[in-house]
Amino acid sequence: MSKDVIIACDFPSAEETFRFLDPFTGQKPFVKIGMELFYAEGPSIVREIKKRGHKIFLDLKLHDIPNTVKRAMACLADLQVDMTNVHAAGGIKMMAAGKEGLESRGGSPLLIAVTQLTSTSQETMEKELLIDHPLPEVVTQYAKNAKAAGLGGVVCSPLEAGKIHRACGRDFMTITPGIRFENSAADDQTRITTPAKARILGSDYIVVGRPITQADNPVEAYQRCVRDFLGTAR
Ligand code: C5P
Repeated sequence: MSKDVIIACDFPSAEETFRFLDPFTGQKPFVKIGMELFYAEGPSIVREIKKRGHKIFLDLKLHDIPNTVKRAMACLADLQVDMTNVHAAGGIKMMAAGKEGLESRGGSPLLIAVTQLTSTSQETMEKELLIDHPLPEVVTQYAKNAKAAGLGGVVCSPLEAGKIHRACGRDFMTITPGIRFENSAADDQTRITTPAKARILGSDYIVVGRPITQADNPVEAYQRCVRDFLGTAR
């Protein structure tokens, strides 16, 4: 099973992204490209980072009618990303269509689902979205839907990883943000976990942004994450 540390490259431009990635000479970390960087720079940013030897998680959270998602995913397949995602709220048919599009070029990148955004509270769900089930139940149901659609995993908190594995099987990947080193700033994350704790909780991939990107020595911070999460140096 592949476990890894994914660096969230939440930068506004290619220039800043490469300034950050340049010092990673020996090792090539798995990186996450989100909407900000992708919309600012376009598909070329994916090709350039790929060319440098990094694996890529393209975090665009697709959510539209099945046919549109399928066609959009075929475009992402052309970019040869290693991991990408859809919103589980789009339903099983939409997620399955996304998978079909993503695999239409012969590869089988890992397709995962966003269950409920961590910014969505129980109150928002009930009052705005008229979903009256407890949030953890909704998250588990959306994960089961993702599995039924043939997806390979979900984004969730490390604190939910065990529950998701019990509901969907150990091979169903949990990709977990909300990671912080012991005694460091939580920033805007509410439920945080250290890399070592995420390992114990059974996370498959941890997504780490600011603890690495804002560190005085990002390479060192990345290596510390790898050591703590994988239990071995890289
Ligand atoms: O800087 P930090 O480590 O908080 O970054 C976490 C990354 O994971 C960000 O790119 C954020 O958008 C993403 N993310 C998250 N929580 C989710 C889904 C994605 O923090 N539920």
